[in-house]
Amino acid sequence: MRIIVGITGGIAAYKAPELVRLLKKQGHEVRCAATEHALQFVTRVTLETVSGAPLYSDLFASGRTEHISLKDWGEMLIVAPATANIIGKVANGIADDALSTLLLAFSGKPVIMAPAMNCEMWAHPAVQRNIETLKAWDIRMVGPEEGELACGVNGVGRMSEPDAIAAAVCNSESRTPNSELGKWLVTAGPTYERIDSVRFIGNYSSGKMGFALAQALADAGAEVELVAGPTSLKIDHPRVKVTRIESAREMYAAATEVFPHCNGAILSAAVADYRPSECADHKLKKNGSEGMHLDLVQNPDILATLGTMKTDRQTLVGFALETDNEEANAQHKLEKKNLDYIVLNSLRDAGAGFGVDTNKVTIISRNGNRKESPLLSKKEVARLIVETITP
Ligand code: C5P
Repeated sequence: MRIIVGITGGIAAYKAPELVRLLKKQGHEVRCAATEHALQFVTRVTLETVSGAPLYSDLFASGRTEHISLKDWGEMLIVAPATANIIGKVANGIADDALSTLLLAFSGKPVIMAPAMNCEMWAHPAVQRNIETLKAWDIRMVGPEEGELACGVNGVGRMSEPDAIAAAVCNSESRTPNSELGKWLVTAGPTYERIDSVRFIGNYSSGKMGFALAQALADAGAEVELVAGPTSLKIDHPRVKVTRIESAREMYAAATEVFPHCNGAILSAAVADYRPSECADHKLKKNGSEGMHLDLVQNPDILATLGTMKTDRQTLVGFALETDNEEANAQHKLEKKNLDYIVLNSLRDAGAGFGVDTNKVTIISRNGNRKESPLLSKKEVARLIVETITP
């Protein structure tokens, strides 16, 4: 792909050459465009050397309409770092230098921005409003991340690392969005089952697989209803609506309400099978040496319920996390819960399962087809699942 990397004047500009190098390594052709302020942080010589092409930074230098010829050349534009200034300019249609003029001319083609700024600036209502405007125009945001900022404080505002930005390019390349996919439900994360006002029964699910699935479905063109249990993960996509719940019963209520309006559902949440039969409205007192006994009752099985609701035009996908007789148990679950596909996670594989960023799965279909993945990032596994289960 032909990619333009736009660099603006923030300290994270020193990471831009690394992004250019990674993109070139992935086989892309890259040209750079920089603001005057960006060149205070990274030099023209560096950008021209890593990209192997002349830098575009002066609207009037050549006397030609470079912003138009560069727009025609580029298939994607990545702004990294994107300062509050460039975000504000694009959101308000201001084109007063080489990069902002190119950005306005680039309308209709894919743009990714990696914001980077001080945390107070990021939190400012003007910046947040501008971000919402850009997202509504399908400009994709990668980051910012939480961490140590150049000004010495900790907060949200760090630019995502170059490899995460390069991975976002890979993801958006996958296929042109197909709006005929319609609406999909995804469940993600753990559930918490309250014991009393301060304690709960939970599990180690991070939600990473489910959030990656929601992202992959939305990238493929679907409208996604993501029902998520407690997790700190966030998702920024104009086609993803997130409903946050805590318990299995709340997840059940949200999922059964939206499923009839969906073309399909992927249930990747680690739902607690049991909950305490009673939840105390105060903190339970220690019971001395007598110990404590919790009476547990069964939670509804959301996947099995959707299996009974399913019509012929709907696709239902479940997950199975098995330790013994993996394939046979997964196949049995597929039939019992009336699924179209089951994704088998094996806890035996190093690098697969809870909390980690990678996974290794086998996708088994109702008609017996099976697809085994190598160890991949959860984002890549999500893309493979979405490619397999959607038309
Ligand atoms: O039967 P088992 O719990 O192993 O099934 C796992 C699959 O069922 C996962 O897709 C999980 O999201 C879903 N599930 C559910 N509701 C439950 C338990 C599991 O939707 N109460």
